[in-house]
Amino acid sequence: MRSLLTEQGVDEVTQCLQAGDHDWNRATAGSRRYAVKAVRSAAPSGARTKRSVSSGRSSTVGTLLDHTARMGRARGTQEHDGLRSERLRLRPWTVADAAFRRRLWAERDPRVPAGRRLTADGSPSLADMEAWILGYEPEPTPGLLVVELVEDEAPIGYCGLVRDSVARSGDPELAFEFLRTSWGHGYATEAARAVVARAAEVGHEHLVATVREWNTASLTVLGKLGFVDTGEREHDPVHGDSLLLRARLR
Ligand SMILES: CC(C)(COP(=O)(O)OP(=O)(O)OC[C@H]1O[C@@H](n2cnc3c(N)ncnc32)[C@H](O)[C@@H]1OP(=O)(O)O)[C@@H](O)C(=O)NCCC(=O)NCCS
Repeated sequence: MRSLLTEQGVDEVTQCLQAGDHDWNRATAGSRRYAVKAVRSAAPSGARTKRSVSSGRSSTVGTLLDHTARMGRARGTQEHDGLRSERLRLRPWTVADAAFRRRLWAERDPRVPAGRRLTADGSPSLADMEAWILGYEPEPTPGLLVVELVEDEAPIGYCGLVRDSVARSGDPELAFEFLRTSWGHGYATEAARAVVARAAEVGHEHLVATVREWNTASLTVLGKLGFVDTGEREHDPVHGDSLLLRARLR
């Protein structure tokens, strides 16, 4: 009974936090109480939790965000839980990955459209990244997964499937991005192989990928995975044409 109430509380507070303003006072008092209890029981010794946070963000809310994400993951995403390859572990996102995701945005090539890069005034913020992670649904299976080295726990990239951004075939789209410090070791190829294998297992028949024509590294990875250029391209004189590639899985 206690854990059921705790889960209800966490669900309600999670929904509240997912609204993006981190104002968890909108959750009912009972829900907050059980969520805080859950955080207290999970928090490392010495960590402080407060029952009332009216505005702004605190480390307590950060703890709560992380904990709720982990609880949600533990309850609802068993089938997407992760993948392993020889050197890599691919796992679902947690709120603790917000800074990592923001660093990826900061490192993006200047040819990437401005709306997908960090602005000079630092947008999207860490809180924006946390909100994205909390709202993220891993669809189509296995969704986007964070990539770590097996012997380490620091994220080096992400890889997985997203909905077809070109929206013609409905086939899942392969996506990957890695921190610059990890480029050139074959990690993207290895992670993407694991994702493609999983995609075949769950019954996807084709995958697509879109890539700017200047992105030689990505084209090389996709070529190794059996993706071929469909000849379709979206002309973009500013950021470079986007090519549509496709792979048959069965
Ligand atoms: C694309 C990306 C994920 C590749 O990551 P990675 O871990 O370095 O990739 P891998 O090491 O598995 O393979 C890269 C291949 O491209 C080759 N390559 C890289 N840069 C190259 C270049 N400028 N010219 C020719 N080949 C290049 C590498 O030599 C390697 O091939 P090899 O194994 O035959 O030597 C990484 O560069 C990245 O994160 N880029 C920014 C995000 C991005 O472009 N995502 C894809 C969007 S479609």
